Amino acid sequence: MIQLDRARKSYVVDGRETVAVDDVSFDVRRGEILAIVGHSGAGKSTLARLINGLETVTSGHVWVDGVDIAGLPERRVRVVRRGTGMIFQQFNLFSSRTAAGNVAYPLRSAGWPKAKRDARVAELLDFVGLLDRAHAYPDQLSGGQKQRIGIARALATNPAILLADEATSALDPTTTADVLTLLRRVNREFGTTIVVITHELD
Ligand SMILES: Nc1ncnc2c1ncn2[C@@H]1O[C@H](COP(=O)(O)OP(=O)(O)OP(=O)(O)O)[C@@H](O)[C@H]1O
Ligand SMILES: [Mg+2]
Repeated sequence: MIQLDRARKSYVVDGRETVAVDDVSFDVRRGEILAIVGHSGAGKSTLARLINGLETVTSGHVWVDGVDIAGLPERRVRVVRRGTGMIFQQFNLFSSRTAAGNVAYPLRSAGWPKAKRDARVAELLDFVGLLDRAHAYPDQLSGGQKQRIGIARALATNPAILLADEATSALDPTTTADVLTLLRRVNREFGTTIVVITHELD
């Protein structure tokens, strides 16, 4: 499903080169969960951006579902990106939109008609256990609830891959466990291939 072959990414800033991802190779099969652990600055977020096509490798290859995304035209990278959901440490919810509005956002972008969108939003909110909070705004939700909305939003268009970049780093241990249990359910029930990035070894 995801294959990295000697993937390397370096940035040149003011003539100085930083190698963020240095010859990384691995293989994640469909339906697997891979955890990537590394200290701050190790290149984890850069690696995530290489997988979802937000960045391109300096050398090497990144295959997603059989397609080498290095060197693909932007139009085709966008298709790959649509097949990849992402959740973040700071949740990145739109503060001016309700929980339902956040989950509906990617469906709206993908051109889903309103009735179909509403039904899908309800289904997703129910899946993450927050149907009763549909009309709450992010600042009225706890951290764990915000991340569950983040997960619902990331899953909206049914992506084959979910990337979780430090998705539990802002949460307490109990809430972290709840979110990880939810991710395991996503993997089991939808067969989603999941990459979990963390600096927490446990
Ligand atoms: N857009 C960029 N331009 C220049 N350098 C960058 C850029 N993005 C990342 N880097 C550098 O690449 C290295 C890896 O950064 P990255 O954000 O991938 O690390 P990380 O493992 O996600 O760290 P953290 O655990 O703190 O989130 C760092 O040295 C960083 O300064
Ligand atoms: Mg990071």
